[in-house]
Amino acid sequence: MATAFTPRVLSGIQPSGGLTLGNYLGALKRFVEMQDAGTHECLYCLVDLHAITVWQDPQALRRNTREAAAAFMAAGIDPARSILFNQSQVPEHAQLAWVFNCVARMGWMGRMTQWKDKAGKNSENASLGLFAYPALMAADILIYHATHVPVGEDQKQHLELTRDIAAKFNHDYKVDFFPITEPVIEGPATRVMSLRDGTKKMSKSDPSDMSRINLSDDPDTIAQKFRKARTDPEPLPETYAELKDRPEARNLVDIYAALAGISTDEVMAQHAGAGWGQFKPALADVAVETMGPITAEMNRLMGDPAEIDRIVGDGARRASDIAAPILAKTYDIVGMISSR
Ligand code: AMP
Ligand code: TRP
Repeated sequence: MATAFTPRVLSGIQPSGGLTLGNYLGALKRFVEMQDAGTHECLYCLVDLHAITVWQDPQALRRNTREAAAAFMAAGIDPARSILFNQSQVPEHAQLAWVFNCVARMGWMGRMTQWKDKAGKNSENASLGLFAYPALMAADILIYHATHVPVGEDQKQHLELTRDIAAKFNHDYKVDFFPITEPVIEGPATRVMSLRDGTKKMSKSDPSDMSRINLSDDPDTIAQKFRKARTDPEPLPETYAELKDRPEARNLVDIYAALAGISTDEVMAQHAGAGWGQFKPALADVAVETMGPITAEMNRLMGDPAEIDRIVGDGARRASDIAAPILAKTYDIVGMISSR
C-alpha cells in the first residue's frame, strides 16, 4: 500500500540578484496563495547554495539573500504560518544532496535544458555544482517529504527529475520512503517573458535591466520600462487567440491579467482596439498599484537586517526539526551506521 504523506509545500528562489516580476507572478504570489489556502504546511527557502553554482560576489549575495527574505514577507509570506529560511542554514539539504548525487545518473543531468543553456558551449569550464544543481533541488524538496511544489514553467523538467530520483531511490532500496512530488504550475503567468525579446523568459540574470521589472523598481522606472517594452505596431485585437503569433503583445496582456487578477479574455474585452500608447500606461498603472506597496514594505524591512536574520534563523531551526529525522532514516536505509 502506498504511504500517505502529510500535505506539504516546498519551494525556493535563488538570491542571485534582485527578484523580478517573473519571480513574483510565477512563484511568490502563488506561494502566498498556497499559504493562505491553509491546506498545506508551507516551507519556503532562499536557495543560496544554488546561487553559488555560478559566481556570486559575497557581499552582494548576503544583501540579495536578505532582500529576497524581505520580498517574501512584503508579498505576504507570514513567518508564523510558513517556514521561511535560508537553504545553507539547514545542513540536511546538502547532506541529502550527496546521497542523490549517487542516485541520479550523469545522463539524466546532461539532458537538463537549464544546464545546457547555462553551461553553453563552454561546459568544460562550468562548475561541477551547476551540473549537480538538480540533485540539490530534489534534496530541497524531498528532505521534507514535500508533496507539492509551486514553480514557474521553466522548472518543470527539474521537477520531473526529482520524481525520477525519488522513484529510483525507492526502487533500488525496495522502500516506499520518498513521495512522488506533484509540480504546481498554474495561473496566467507561469512564464513571464523579457520586455526586450518575447522569446526569452524574464530573468534576473539578463544583462539588460530594461528586459525586466525588478521588485525594487520605483514607479517612474516601471512606467519607463513598459513604455520602452518591445512590441509590434498593431493595436490590440478583439480576442486573445489573435495574439498567437505576437509573443511580445501576448506577454504584456498576460502580465496585465496576472497583476489585475482578471482573465486574459477580460483584458481583451476592456482594451480591444487600444494602441500601445494607451495600453502601456494602463499596464504601468496596475503594476505600480500592485507592486508599489510590496516594494515599500520590502524597503522598510531592509532597514532592520538583524530582524530579517532572526526570522530566517528561527525558520531554519523549525525546518531542521522536520529534516533531521528524514535524513537519519535515509542514512539508515542506505546502510550508514548511526553514531548514537
Ligand atoms: P529563479 O529566479 O530561477 O530562482 O526562479 C525562482 C522561481 O521563479 C521559480 O519557480 C521559477 O520558475 C520562477 N520564475 C523565474 N522567472 C520566471 C518568469 N520569467 N516567469 C515565471 N516564473 C518565473
Ligand atoms: N531551481 C529553482 C529555480 O531556479 C530554484 C529552486 C531550488 C527550487 N530548489 C528548489 C524551486 C526547490 C522549487 C523547489 O527556479
